[in-house]
Amino acid sequence: MENMEKEDITPFNVIIVFFSATGNTRKIADTIKSKLSDLGVSVTQFDISSPKDRNKNISFSDYDAVFFGFPIYSLRAPRVCREWLMRQNGESKRCSVFFTYGGFGKEPAHYYIKELLEKRDFALVSTAEFLGAHTFNYSGWEAAQGRPDNSDMKVAEEYTVKTLERFRADKLTKVNDFEKPPYPVEQLDEAEKYRFRLITQLPTRDGKECCLCMQCEELCPTGSMDAVRGIVNPKSCIACFRCIASCPENVLHTNDIANSWENKLKMHNTSKEEIDGMESKIFL
Ligand SMILES: Cc1cc2nc3c(=O)[nH]c(=O)nc-3n(C[C@H](O)[C@H](O)[C@H](O)COP(=O)(O)O)c2cc1C
Repeated sequence: MENMEKEDITPFNVIIVFFSATGNTRKIADTIKSKLSDLGVSVTQFDISSPKDRNKNISFSDYDAVFFGFPIYSLRAPRVCREWLMRQNGESKRCSVFFTYGGFGKEPAHYYIKELLEKRDFALVSTAEFLGAHTFNYSGWEAAQGRPDNSDMKVAEEYTVKTLERFRADKLTKVNDFEKPPYPVEQLDEAEKYRFRLITQLPTRDGKECCLCMQCEELCPTGSMDAVRGIVNPKSCIACFRCIASCPENVLHTNDIANSWENKLKMHNTSKEEIDGMESKIFL
């Protein structure tokens, strides 16, 4: 029966393009990939986290549909990803976007990614948002620890099935419109500076010795890390912590921001328990 179902499916090629600094978005991308493979779909993954990969060309005409995966940085997809998308041509392909986020603000991300993708001639059929341990937990926060977990992966599988249905349907059904966020884009641009008010000491090795594997420098999404000196270029570092997350010796760190945690919760009128209880969601 299973074989018959697979034989009945006409060949369908999907590409999953994602950016992931600390691995959460990659985990969701991997679940989507394996679910698509189970459903007999041919899947390619394309990681755009490193600058050299963002410079490679993707010909979207080689695929039937596209999944994009981004973390949420300051309420939207990361600027490097938005800039990369602005250089792409969707060739009217159907696509879907999934985000991972650390339990705080995220609504504007859906609205603005739809606007951007439509400008680039993609047809957005669905979006999704998944909880992911907040990047700044590396510096002392405690948001969404251990996420994404099994409950998120279940949502990821359901999202894959529902999105594939929309990708394969004869008639195009676009995702419902999202409410226009109350903040102007200028205010969102301004919010991007918040990370540097918190992370006042950008990733550093602080004179500690290391094996100089060069991973941090090779993987840095903006080419900002100098592995030999163990410091980043403050003009281009985006505080994504890919260097910290990828260091096999754990010798990179920032300033400790644990003392801002309670204030962060207050600012968002939430609690650690409320964030931990949040569920991942699908938007159709
Ligand atoms: C610079 C920066 C800004 C962030 N802004 C937000 C935000 O606005 N809202 C939120 O809930 N999480 C925010 N996060 C947390 C990430 O969205 C979250 O940890 C995500 O899962 C990281 O994905 P990755 O592991 O694939 O890199 C931010 C993280 C970074 C590094």
